Amino acid sequence: MSDAFVTAIANVVSAQTDLSPAEVEELIETPPSSEMGDYAVPCFALARKWRKPPAAIAAELAAKIAPSEYLAKVENAGPYLNFFVNKRCLAEETLKRVATEGARYGTSNVGAGKTVVIDFSHPNIAKPFGIHHLRSTVIGNALRNVYRALGYHVVGINHLGDWGTQFGKLLAAWQRWGTGELTEDISVATLLQLYVRIHDEIENDPAVEEEARAWFRRLEQGDPEARRMWEVCRNVSLKEFNRVYEMLGITFESVAGESFYQDKIHDTLQRLQDKGLTTVSEGATIVDLKPWGMPPFIARRRDDASLYATRDLAAAEYRWSTYHFDKMLYVVDVAQSLHFQQLFKVLELMGYEWHARCAHVVFGRMLGLSTREGKVIFLEDVLNHSIELARKMVEEKNPDLPNKDEVAQQVGIGAVIFADLKRGRIKDYVFDWEEVLNPFGDTGPYLQYTHARFCSILRKAAQPVVMGGVDYARLSEAETVALIKAIAAFPRAVQQAARDYEPSIVSRALLDIADKANKFYEKHQVIGVEETTFHARLLLVDCTRQVLANGLRLLGIAAPEEM
Ligand code: ARG
Repeated sequence: MSDAFVTAIANVVSAQTDLSPAEVEELIETPPSSEMGDYAVPCFALARKWRKPPAAIAAELAAKIAPSEYLAKVENAGPYLNFFVNKRCLAEETLKRVATEGARYGTSNVGAGKTVVIDFSHPNIAKPFGIHHLRSTVIGNALRNVYRALGYHVVGINHLGDWGTQFGKLLAAWQRWGTGELTEDISVATLLQLYVRIHDEIENDPAVEEEARAWFRRLEQGDPEARRMWEVCRNVSLKEFNRVYEMLGITFESVAGESFYQDKIHDTLQRLQDKGLTTVSEGATIVDLKPWGMPPFIARRRDDASLYATRDLAAAEYRWSTYHFDKMLYVVDVAQSLHFQQLFKVLELMGYEWHARCAHVVFGRMLGLSTREGKVIFLEDVLNHSIELARKMVEEKNPDLPNKDEVAQQVGIGAVIFADLKRGRIKDYVFDWEEVLNPFGDTGPYLQYTHARFCSILRKAAQPVVMGGVDYARLSEAETVALIKAIAAFPRAVQQAARDYEPSIVSRALLDIADKANKFYEKHQVIGVEETTFHARLLLVDCTRQVLANGLRLLGIAAPEEM
């Protein structure tokens, strides 16, 4: 639910135009400075509709809309219609709502009865959980939290890369160089070495490729030995992945990797053929996508080995029939854009109206963390390093903190997560240790410190926070109002994050709250001021720490009370 002011503006503007309140709400912006107003409605869209200059429309509307209890003043400024809210009402509405809703502030039930499937994280087994899978993991998890907060039924799926010709290579490698039976004592690092070794071997001697193909054929045909070895690889990898997920506090509703669709591919291919969509080209079965300017979707290879793309097709069908989703999001690297365009087009050609419910949530690359040899960086190592650095920081700032280990863990991991979620997901970003952990930068630790700082004010005040009898007119200084406005904007940010599949909207809302909170506290004392003002400010402090905690939780970051 949006705040009362956005709703009030949406209603008054809607009454004077042919826009619905929801359409007006989409347009509402926050002006760059509060002298210009608290909220603004740009009139460009109306100008196009009505074929009049936007400034004329703004003037016309400003003249028609009378001030009300909530909206103290309406003004036009160029193409904008600016609203000034009643500050006392703003404080009262906002703080009462935060104090009443507590941990639920920012949540709603707009998604009740709707299902969102989110395909995220999806590392590849028999390889370490690399840093390149961090982005999908944290963006997907934040979206999962955001949708849940809005009342959606969310199915988070870990579509593990646990099938494919690479396992033929791995098994062939074990047969060549392994000793005895493959057992779960083996480490993922060793599996990776084996894989790299056979890869090099194939480069030198293409005949080895045939060996690998034969193994994959055995695996696909259900040969018990091949199957057993594959299971060992899968279990060993999962154990390692689960360690990382535990550190990050991430769980899934379903861990159904590519292998899960193995027995479903046959029917999927049959349907493709029955619908007359396939042709045979050089022995492979393809769906021609030339009319849409795309290369063919290869459904089956000449050697009959199954393919990533076909498994995705089977997965989409399976998920539709299992979950009847309203949306299915694939949180995957921008490098796979073409794959998903092809996939969605094939679903459309198959006549599935739900193809339009599928979206590829793309993200750019994370740079700055690579070894000289271009080797994989283990995510676990990055997290541990960050925890180490955070421990030093905590040690310096608060040597007497009783639960230093726990806090170091929360701060270290929070720093890595926030670095990833702070800007628009499409952008590439450079990971820089100094920047990521800087407690004064736009970072996870900064948000956590601000939260802890406000918790400590409450501790020091050592008095209960009361809502009854608070004089909201006391919360009228510029810095105070700015903070309250930032808090009021939070629920809308959560909704927009879901609408745009963009966790950074929540991140930015939190940074704004933290900035305003620190500015407020620099200017205004809480403890030791006159009683009535004290109670009003104390309530604001409590609401600030609440909203910061709520937002951090949505991003998958812990909010320690002391650090
Ligand atoms: N495991 C794949 C990779 O690492 C990503 C899987 C994405 N999900 C999907 N349904 N294709 O590249």
